[in-house]
Amino acid sequence: MLEKLPHLTAIIAISVDGKISDATNSPARFSSKMDLDHLERQISLLDAIIFGGNTIRAYGTSLVIKNPELLNQRRANNQPFQPLNIVCSASGNINPEMRFFSQCLPRGLLTTNEGLLNWQEKVKDYNQQKSQEKDNYFQDFFISNNPLNWQEILKELWALNYKKIGILGGSQLISSLLAENLIDELWLTICPLIIGKKLALSFLDPNLFANLKLPINLKLLEVKQVDEEIFLHYLILNNDKYE
Ligand SMILES: NC(=O)c1ccc[n+]([C@@H]2O[C@H](COP(=O)([O-])OP(=O)(O)OC[C@H]3O[C@@H](n4cnc5c(N)ncnc54)[C@H](OP(=O)(O)O)[C@@H]3O)[C@@H](O)[C@H]2O)c1
Repeated sequence: MLEKLPHLTAIIAISVDGKISDATNSPARFSSKMDLDHLERQISLLDAIIFGGNTIRAYGTSLVIKNPELLNQRRANNQPFQPLNIVCSASGNINPEMRFFSQCLPRGLLTTNEGLLNWQEKVKDYNQQKSQEKDNYFQDFFISNNPLNWQEILKELWALNYKKIGILGGSQLISSLLAENLIDELWLTICPLIIGKKLALSFLDPNLFANLKLPINLKLLEVKQVDEEIFLHYLILNNDKYE
């Protein structure tokens, strides 16, 4: 084993035709309350979660763990009640007005030097406009080169004790990590619909797989059916990050 890296689990809901939303900027609202419970349970097992800029721009909020059983379990494990919510945005083009910033969550921004400056400008303008001096939008900043150097970012997160990390989408974020063989597990919820639209986003972006050895082999660990949804849990076998 060369370096310790966090264990990454991607968690995503897809339609039967493998789509994750109608379009890049629209939130995916097709999964059920059961899927949200599943997501909450999975998130409760993690130290941090990462989502892409388009995902937070589409939803405007993140999922806060509220289930008392899950909160008690985190307390028993000496974990903070909520995992660190990391927004991945190379551009720093995140709106400080989003409801995400008033949710009771620890927040981090993963960005570039340029993105950090852009974000700081946005906060300055917004605070001026609101005549306020709020500075608790993000508590943690992770700065990387452009393109992002995932190995270095993950080493830093591991060193800070973020050892189990959820990758919550969207397609660009999951694909870029998969393309570097960095994702260990995958939870897919198959939802009973066909989206079928030409511009609907697929679960993976094949443009980001240019240098990858394909196919990526998976081992099925678990299958659950709850009402009309199927929850599939896979191990990603091509993952060689510990070799
Ligand atoms: N069905 C589901 O379970 C589910 C879950 C999550 C999201 N979604 C849907 O997915 C859609 C968004 O997916 P998406 O693929 O368009 O975008 P995404 O992966 O959410 O976000 C892409 C943005 O994130 C940043 N980013 C991601 N990976 C990066 C990398 N390797 N290097 C640098 N920056 C990176 C960049 O931000 P900047 O542009 O800010 O630089 C990039 O433009 C939304 O419609 C959302 O509703 C569905």
